[in-house]
Amino acid sequence: MVKVNTCVFISGQGTNLKNLLTRSRDSSFPIVIKLIITNNKNSKGIILAKKNSIPFKIINTKLRNYEDKILQYLKKNNINFICLAGYMKIISKKFIKKFGKKIVNIHPSLLPKFKGLNTYSRVLQHKERITGCTVHYVSEKLDSGKIIVQKSFYINSNDNEETLKQKTQNLEYRVFPEAIIKVFRNY
Ligand code: GRF
Repeated sequence: MVKVNTCVFISGQGTNLKNLLTRSRDSSFPIVIKLIITNNKNSKGIILAKKNSIPFKIINTKLRNYEDKILQYLKKNNINFICLAGYMKIISKKFIKKFGKKIVNIHPSLLPKFKGLNTYSRVLQHKERITGCTVHYVSEKLDSGKIIVQKSFYINSNDNEETLKQKTQNLEYRVFPEAIIKVFRNY
């Protein structure tokens, strides 16, 4: 099986990245992670990249042409697929068009509900009974592309932001790999 060269974009802890890295070691998993992009030099995912000898780039998003720089790195590393795993920058329409290949994102809510930031506190404030996570294609509108996989769980009356986050992320570790398998099922 020829695996798809993949770049993972991160900004923070990189726990989804870690999970995808583990899964990608499985010979039947469709992707191989060849590059990691981060906009945060303190991202824990960098430690992971170093440990696993995966090339990584720290991007200075204050530069006007930083997306062009990313596109250059993607080209240089023959990247054909992007996973956004907690990347806290909005990707421009121009970037999506220029890359021209599949980009997926994981979001910690049942989209189209609770797009954007501070998801867990908003879910609690709205007294939702269920929540979950969604993997979707990245389109030109924020958190709005076609849904690939979405899974949910019931919220307990004693759940708080911390427990919701933990439960949602545990679900993400199952949902993200499943969505990637689905994307490349007929590849
Ligand atoms: C995840 O919960 C994801 O849904 C959101 O950002 C978080 C990233 O977590 N987009 P991590 O960096 O993978 O630990």
